[in-house]
Amino acid sequence: MPEIVYTLSRVSYEYGPGAPALHGVDLTIAEGESVALLGANASGKTTLLRLLAGLASPTAGAITAFGAPLTPESLRDRVFAAAFRRRVGFVFQNADAQLFSPTVAAEIAFGPLQLGLDEAAVAARVRDTMALLGIEHLAERAPFHLSGGEKRKVAIGSVLSLGPDVLLFDEPTTGLDPRSRGWLVRFLRALREAGKTIVTATHDLDIVGRLADRAVVLGEDHRVWSDAPIGAVLADHGLLVGTNLAEPRGSEP
Ligand SMILES: Nc1ncnc2c1ncn2[C@@H]1O[C@H](COP(=O)(O)OP(=O)(O)OP(=O)(O)O)[C@@H](O)[C@H]1O
Ligand SMILES: [Mg+2]
Repeated sequence: MPEIVYTLSRVSYEYGPGAPALHGVDLTIAEGESVALLGANASGKTTLLRLLAGLASPTAGAITAFGAPLTPESLRDRVFAAAFRRRVGFVFQNADAQLFSPTVAAEIAFGPLQLGLDEAAVAARVRDTMALLGIEHLAERAPFHLSGGEKRKVAIGSVLSLGPDVLLFDEPTTGLDPRSRGWLVRFLRALREAGKTIVTATHDLDIVGRLADRAVVLGEDHRVWSDAPIGAVLADHGLLVGTNLAEPRGSEP
């Protein structure tokens, strides 16, 4: 039996009174699964990824990660927090919010340095990660001045260099040209083949069939409308229209 990575029980999140983002979410994610998190704008995808990443805690309900409660208290425990942060990587929707180092190489070295690896091990990780992503030529460039697609690769590199088991991707294909998008889909598939647990939030229905085994669909009411194999979700036009992921038939101009 694969290890259960996450269990969410009746998880709700509000940014404030009258600002709900998630409502009553029940979810289990097992090791090695690749899950697409689908939903229209404002349905709560980013919020759910932030909870899975331990960047926020539910306002109601409970989450366990790797069998242990994921709570503000457990995340204040330095040993637990360090182990959790090393196992879970989050690639943000907006790469600019993720990149802060003066060079690409420094950006990718940041995580391994935080882990306390020695200089040679850090250098090896940076080299391997840049080679995996094909960004060696960007090593000394300033992340801030890269193109959107290049920034996305660097943001992915800054997370992969930590060697996480779980990868959370927020709208990874947004703003990418067709070639970069194709590259990213193949890259995510390779991560899945390598046994990583992957949660990808997106409304890009064209790619999810190639990425994920399973889809969790959030409605505009911030509830889970469906949790099913990806093929079944993509074939359910009524569900896609109801959750505003597709337009009703005949509405195209
Ligand atoms: N920092 C915040 N403060 C207040 N409300 C917020 C905040 N972040 C998100 N929200 C609200 O929470 C709800 C869910 O937002 P979230 O960003 O999780 O949606 P999303 O599914 O990721 O949308 P998108 O597809 O546009 O990225 C929205 O109604 C949003 O306005
Ligand atoms: Mg979002």
